[in-house]
Amino acid sequence: MQKQGKDYIVFPLDFSCVKDAKKYVKLLDGKVGMFKIGLELFIDQGPSIVQMVKKESRVKIFLDLKLHDISVTVQRAMERVATLGVDFVTVHCSSSAMLEKAVKGGKGKTNVLGVTLLTDNDTNAVKAAGFKEKFVKAPHLLVMHRAKMAYESGCKGVICSGREVQQIKKRFGKSFLAVTPGIRPSWTLLENDDQKRVTTPGQAVSLGSDLIVIGRPIRDADDPAVATQKVIQEVEAALSLA
Ligand code: C5P
Repeated sequence: MQKQGKDYIVFPLDFSCVKDAKKYVKLLDGKVGMFKIGLELFIDQGPSIVQMVKKESRVKIFLDLKLHDISVTVQRAMERVATLGVDFVTVHCSSSAMLEKAVKGGKGKTNVLGVTLLTDNDTNAVKAAGFKEKFVKAPHLLVMHRAKMAYESGCKGVICSGREVQQIKKRFGKSFLAVTPGIRPSWTLLENDDQKRVTTPGQAVSLGSDLIVIGRPIRDADDPAVATQKVIQEVEAALSLA
């Protein structure tokens, strides 16, 4: 079946309590392609939150744990994750050994997405973290370096900003997924926005993003369902799916 506009949308359940998360799961079930469970909710609720989302909806689940530890610990954590029945988990691309063990621990049941460079990191953040001058001058080179590690370690894809998607697709092929956060539709006005390397939904999918993570523009809209529909229309128009 052809991928529809809604299938591109990952809605993060960035809530501190299960009541709010449930409300949005019910509201957006069938209107988005995936729900993302992040640290806030997972720490508060534990694995039972995954069961809640599965019970209340039919959409895929992306567990955004952003794992980063010694490889053996990551593998053991991934073996636990593989029992939860989630489709994707994130692991930081900081060492090939860690990524390989993460993939191994996922046992083919849970796909690993490598986190390249967080979209609230700009060149100043790269410099402050002590990276080489070439990465400070061109953070996309760091993204590509890390994407290569993820690709060679057997990850299903990477998290990257819309600005790097084209290059990632060109270098690693269509089936290596590019998942893009930092999505800001032109109609969104967020005060003091922390996201730096941003793209609109239309730009991201036109550049080749397979999935777009879009939270606050939907969550904080006057009508989240209407905002979701606007994003779907923009995606479909950009891809001429409508
Ligand atoms: O659209 P909004 O900025 O609200 O999206 C925030 C969500 O995107 C959070 O769940 C955050 O963890 C996720 N995110 C991510 N990777 C990034 C930046 C944000 O997964 N590089």
